[in-house]
Amino acid sequence: MHAFSEAFRAELDALLRARRDVRRFRRDPVPEPLLLHLLEQANLAPSVGLSQPWRFIRVQSPKLRAAVATAFEAANAAAASGYEGARAETYKRLKLEGLGQAPEHLLICCETAPAQGHGLGRQTQPQTLRDSVVCAIQILWLAARAEGLGIGWVSILDPQGLREAFDLPPTWEWVAYLCVGWPEAFLDIPELEAEGWEQRRPLADVLERR
Ligand SMILES: Cc1cc2nc3c(=O)[nH]c(=O)nc-3n(C[C@H](O)[C@H](O)[C@H](O)COP(=O)(O)O)c2cc1C
Repeated sequence: MHAFSEAFRAELDALLRARRDVRRFRRDPVPEPLLLHLLEQANLAPSVGLSQPWRFIRVQSPKLRAAVATAFEAANAAAASGYEGARAETYKRLKLEGLGQAPEHLLICCETAPAQGHGLGRQTQPQTLRDSVVCAIQILWLAARAEGLGIGWVSILDPQGLREAFDLPPTWEWVAYLCVGWPEAFLDIPELEAEGWEQRRPLADVLERR
């Protein structure tokens, strides 16, 4: 059998539509086997040259979590000051992280000089290593949603300032800081839409023929 069943495909479509970026978490823990299962699934992602350049760090140290929260506050204040008028007011209302409540924090890095893959596929486009890491993150995001778990990507941070605290090897690039946990709720539409910040555009707006 080459295709999955119609029922599965309908469920998959529902999953894709129901995935959300989550910023409001309950504090109850994520069972260890479940988290490891999700990371196993992310480890199945496609990668350039089969290099598997993703590196997952489970951030458990209160000191590191506090450093990330401080970095968010600084970057968010700087970002807020770049808006004016009604847009600035809306920005201030947005909740853009769930760092304080999410029971699990993941830092996801990219090994930019992996021996694995023997350089295949990335000679002219070295960024395909990072692209591969994002493929893994997307799988994690969807797999988590299938379990009823929420993920929130926190990009409002200056990773340069945090590299030292995390003692990252020089060849590891910071790609994503993710909050993971049980959501207070899954919204039907992106929170940024609900808050009037931005709207999802239909396919016709982003599809061209040349
Ligand atoms: C690379 C990336 C970075 C993001 N960074 C943030 C962030 O720092 N804070 C936040 O609240 N949401 C962040 N998001 C979530 C987006 O705002 C969200 O995906 C978008 O509004 C669509 O909503 P949905 O994911 O719920 O469909 C990020 C998403 C991506 C893909």
